Amino acid sequence: MNILVIHGPNLNLLGKREPGVYGATTLEGINDALEQDALELGVSLRSYQSNSEGDLVSAIHDARGWAEAIIINPAAYTHTSVAIRDAIAGVGIPAIEVHLSNVHAREPFRQHSYIAPVAQGTIAGFGAESYRLALRVASQWGVS
Ligand code: DQA
Repeated sequence: MNILVIHGPNLNLLGKREPGVYGATTLEGINDALEQDALELGVSLRSYQSNSEGDLVSAIHDARGWAEAIIINPAAYTHTSVAIRDAIAGVGIPAIEVHLSNVHAREPFRQHSYIAPVAQGTIAGFGAESYRLALRVASQWGVS
């Protein structure tokens, strides 16, 4: 099973960026842990990060024909992007929305997600573990 992990804007700064909110793990650290899990789960993983909304939309389009599931942390675009929502709905690849922080316990503007209605579900608030939990769920979709 092929799974694409997409990281949105500012997540390249993980480890340095507001560690009290987002933790000390770097993006590389998260991707390495996911790679390790993917080996154990017997799935293939690709990871992509961009700070640009259009590039994230293109990455979702380009997932067609390869990815059977998408794990996406749209970061700030969660709360603003109709384009990313439409891309996920448009490609029809099942997606899981993840967040490091518990967005529901933060500022009101973080409590609305444009992505949630087109995702299979959302995992938020468990730091890097949010991604690992999502990978476990997505890998089960390949088991018939
Ligand atoms: C985030 C939460 C968003 O509100 C924020 O803009 C981010 C990261 C998270 O993973 O907790 O950049 O998606």
